[in-house]
Amino acid sequence: MEYRLAKLEDAKDIFEIVQDTIKRIYPKYYLPEIADMFCEFHNKENIVEDIENGNTYILLENNKPIGTGTMKGNHILRVYVLPEFQGKGFGTYIMQQLEGEIGKRYDKVKIDASLPACKLYYNLGYKTVDHGIWECAGGVIQVYEMMEKSLKKAENKADSLRLRPYKNCDAKTIVSWICDEMAFRKWSADRYESFPITEDDMNQKYMNCNGDGIEPDDFYPMTAFDESGVVGHLTMRFTDKEKKILRFGFVIVDDKKRGKGYGKKMLELALKFAFDILKVSKVTLGVFENNPSAYYCYKAAGFKAISLEQDEYYHIFGEKWKCIELEVDEYES
Ligand SMILES: CC(C)(COP(=O)(O)OP(=O)(O)OC[C@H]1O[C@@H](n2cnc3c(N)ncnc32)[C@H](O)[C@@H]1OP(=O)(O)O)[C@@H](O)C(=O)NCCC(=O)NCCS
Repeated sequence: MEYRLAKLEDAKDIFEIVQDTIKRIYPKYYLPEIADMFCEFHNKENIVEDIENGNTYILLENNKPIGTGTMKGNHILRVYVLPEFQGKGFGTYIMQQLEGEIGKRYDKVKIDASLPACKLYYNLGYKTVDHGIWECAGGVIQVYEMMEKSLKKAENKADSLRLRPYKNCDAKTIVSWICDEMAFRKWSADRYESFPITEDDMNQKYMNCNGDGIEPDDFYPMTAFDESGVVGHLTMRFTDKEKKILRFGFVIVDDKKRGKGYGKKMLELALKFAFDILKVSKVTLGVFENNPSAYYCYKAAGFKAISLEQDEYYHIFGEKWKCIELEVDEYES
């Protein structure tokens, strides 16, 4: 398959693709006067003019011209694929190429849809925003759909996440995300005595870890939030006197918002804080082998697994849970 900008010598092929397709397909959808008007609209002069303006493309399969598409500003027009090559993805391919070009300069793409093609455009994400009226020979009227599609990249909700120091009042929300004992142990290992924990348990623990924010300390509980409120939480703790190595712990995201990129975003923010503000040279953390979503989230945020001289195990529910050690030591802000 070859898709390229059309040259003047392609005008005849493009004209034939368009005329042939209209004559074979449109009579099934339109009155003859309307099909004739389409043929007239896509006459040779108009095609040559668009090729000269450098905005018409041709698609070849095994060197045979089989499809075409044109753009004018943010408008797509004259997308045609020969009937015997339809239903094979060529039309979608032409549309995506044109959208790619238009997307470099515009946020929105427009198309006037013919009846045989409107379902394809709908499937590609176009929505009807208005109707146009075209008066053909003999007083025959054609009503067509004017469709549009936004080319703006879908905003990732997690992008609005921010990080701030933990407040005691966050505990109520955070403990509500831990719904069963298995999840509780994967999150906290043996750091809490029993399940479930209350907000007071969490606040007491953090106070004991010198996390009151008043004394000069080495323990920083953090909260991730967005416009909806508290979304995630983690702790940061220096593990060396020089305060060059920081360990993350108690990493957790709202149980109703998992798998949507919030965990990764929160860790990226925490890493940025650690390296740019706290000026650490390394961030470490541990994750249980039986917690793949956490493991892969850490990997996605830039952590690398490292091998320890001796594997670390925790005894939980009468089982031996292996803890994988991960770290980030090269960070580009
Ligand atoms: C661990 C936790 C914080 C991750 O947060 P999250 O918001 O669910 O994770 P994200 O949606 O940000 O996932 C980020 C990445 O991990 C990947 N990922 C998540 N689960 C995965 C899985 N089971 N297999 C493969 N990849 C997975 C995602 O595909 C994404 O990668 P990408 O950006 O390259 O596509 C969250 O699941 C949680 O709160 N778990 C309960 C508490 C816990 O166990 N904490 C771990 C303590 S060590």
